[in-house]
Amino acid sequence: MKDWKRTHYCGRLSEKDIDSEVILNGWVDARRDHGGLIFIDLRDREGLVQVVFNPEVNREVHERAHRLRNEFVVAVKGVVRRRPEGTENPNIPTGEVEVVAHGLTVFNESRPLPFQLDEEDVAEHLRLKYRYLDLRRPELQRNLIIRHRITKAVRDYLSSKGFIEIETPFLTKSTPEGARDYLVPSRLNPGHFYALPQSPQLFKQILMVAGFERYFQVVRCFRDEDLRADRQPEFTQIDLEMSFVEREDVMEVVEGMLAHLLKEVMGREVKRPFPRLTYREAISRFGLDTPDTRFGLELKEITQLAGRSDFKVFRDTVERGGIVKGINVKGGSSLSRKDLDDLTQFVSIFGAKGLAWIKITGGGWQSPIAKFFDPSIRAEIDRVMGGEEGDIYLFIGDEPKVTNTALGRLRIEMARRFGLIPDDELSFVWVTDFPLLEWDEEEKRYVTLHHPFTSPFDEDVERLSSSPLEVRAKAYDIVLNGVEIGGGSLRIYREDVQERVFDLLGIGRQEAEQKFGFLLQALQYGAPPHGGIALGLDRLVAILCRAPSIREVIAFPKTQKAVCLMTGAPSEVDKRLLKDLHIKVTD
Ligand code: AMO
Ligand code: AMP
Repeated sequence: MKDWKRTHYCGRLSEKDIDSEVILNGWVDARRDHGGLIFIDLRDREGLVQVVFNPEVNREVHERAHRLRNEFVVAVKGVVRRRPEGTENPNIPTGEVEVVAHGLTVFNESRPLPFQLDEEDVAEHLRLKYRYLDLRRPELQRNLIIRHRITKAVRDYLSSKGFIEIETPFLTKSTPEGARDYLVPSRLNPGHFYALPQSPQLFKQILMVAGFERYFQVVRCFRDEDLRADRQPEFTQIDLEMSFVEREDVMEVVEGMLAHLLKEVMGREVKRPFPRLTYREAISRFGLDTPDTRFGLELKEITQLAGRSDFKVFRDTVERGGIVKGINVKGGSSLSRKDLDDLTQFVSIFGAKGLAWIKITGGGWQSPIAKFFDPSIRAEIDRVMGGEEGDIYLFIGDEPKVTNTALGRLRIEMARRFGLIPDDELSFVWVTDFPLLEWDEEEKRYVTLHHPFTSPFDEDVERLSSSPLEVRAKAYDIVLNGVEIGGGSLRIYREDVQERVFDLLGIGRQEAEQKFGFLLQALQYGAPPHGGIALGLDRLVAILCRAPSIREVIAFPKTQKAVCLMTGAPSEVDKRLLKDLHIKVTD
């Protein structure tokens, strides 16, 4: 290595390096052997540059260059020159120059690759198995570099605002965030298990009791749940907590931090303050509590009108307390029967039993259900929907949750199909005033929308016993382009309120004591009012990198089945280890 240390990065060479003597280290990205001249594209972290081997410059070096193959790791000595006229490559930043080589050393060869780095649509299992090759691709390099810069901007910003980064344990006790825990057996305490944290929630609250006032951590969290494009079993949060604050203070810090990192990393400005929607409004207008506000196509309610029509499905729905809502897709009357069948199939995934459609033509309504609506009701529906010739109304009548969810999803699907989503826009929105609880029909009990430490509205505390579902929570989510990138709340800081909420959730004294005794105890020793939030770093980075999945911004992600294809984890372990842990594996 000694005589071959890099003097310049390949990707950084430019016209101002012309005539410089350089040493480059990197990988052979491509080789073009023209018999006489041999060209290689040499790649390092910063990009590519063309290297020329000319037998007239150095015959022996040229001879050895014949044996170079893709992904060999080499060092090249040479002189930078302007490319001959007509051979410039405007597609790469170093395209004006090339390096004329007079020295070459091969550090290591490479077997033929399982896939080419510039190949598109490589099967993901191959990419994950050979992740070190996949990570050589410029796109993944860029994603991870952006991730680093975002993380650094976050640390800089929060430090400048008086936040202290404090680490919290991984080997700990369960924190309820709604997923299953990953458990770690304790060798020294047979039959006892640690839980990997689903978040540092309880520790950060305790740090507030301890008087740190402003805590943050860029921290790994572990959740054993069903995985999707934006869910990994381990993921990273930008977690923060503050004392003596109201929700505005937390929102202010988060907006400031996001504005700072966007400016710092992407050179982008965002309009502040971010818009806000209450949970009710979000559901009413967008059907979902993660509204994508980059486009319109809002949901309109026609429950009353539908109840007065002769369409039995709608009348029955309304009678049973359901709702009827719809969207008006401009220019959507071009949809075919097959399209509409597909869309009916699409909404059925979310539980909708059907999808009613009405095309607006020059001659009025065209729809199998048009006959059930008399002219005056049609006119009123047209007014609500804002229909014009060429549009299509898509309606769902069902119980409120199904109607809203299915139509909310359909809204996004239609926006995608009709190209309504401006994909370079960043649309932040806060969703506030969530209900504290919802009723879990399967388990027949109340569950929290966030976590059990979220404070109810002061003026709603009285209703905790009489009408729990109406109690609002001091919780807020931040949504970016229809993705929940963060959630937080002001916390309960009084033991009596915390115990009432546990009661409602069906967590008895004993269970509370056993699971969260340390928190309840801490609340008895002068806990300040406090609150915070956690942002999903992977999701934020993925959106900013325009990556289709968070797997594209995580160096070593897992598959849908929570497997690491590179290392082969999880795997069986030596029986002796299990014995030490007092664990016996049955079927
Ligand atoms: P929450 O559970 O909402 O809140 O998590 C915060 C944010 O983390 C991201 N996230 C995930 N990202 C990738 N994979 C996952 N499996 C995953 N699960 C969550 C989301 C989410 O908005 N302790 C509270 C925060 C608080 O109240 O301060 C918490 O963990 O972007
Ligand atoms: P049917 O009378 O069952 O043939 O339904 C007529 C139309 O109404 C079809 O396009 C169905 O998809 C639609 N439809 C059925 N149930 C619902 C519902 N709950 N909400 C909206 N449309 C429905």
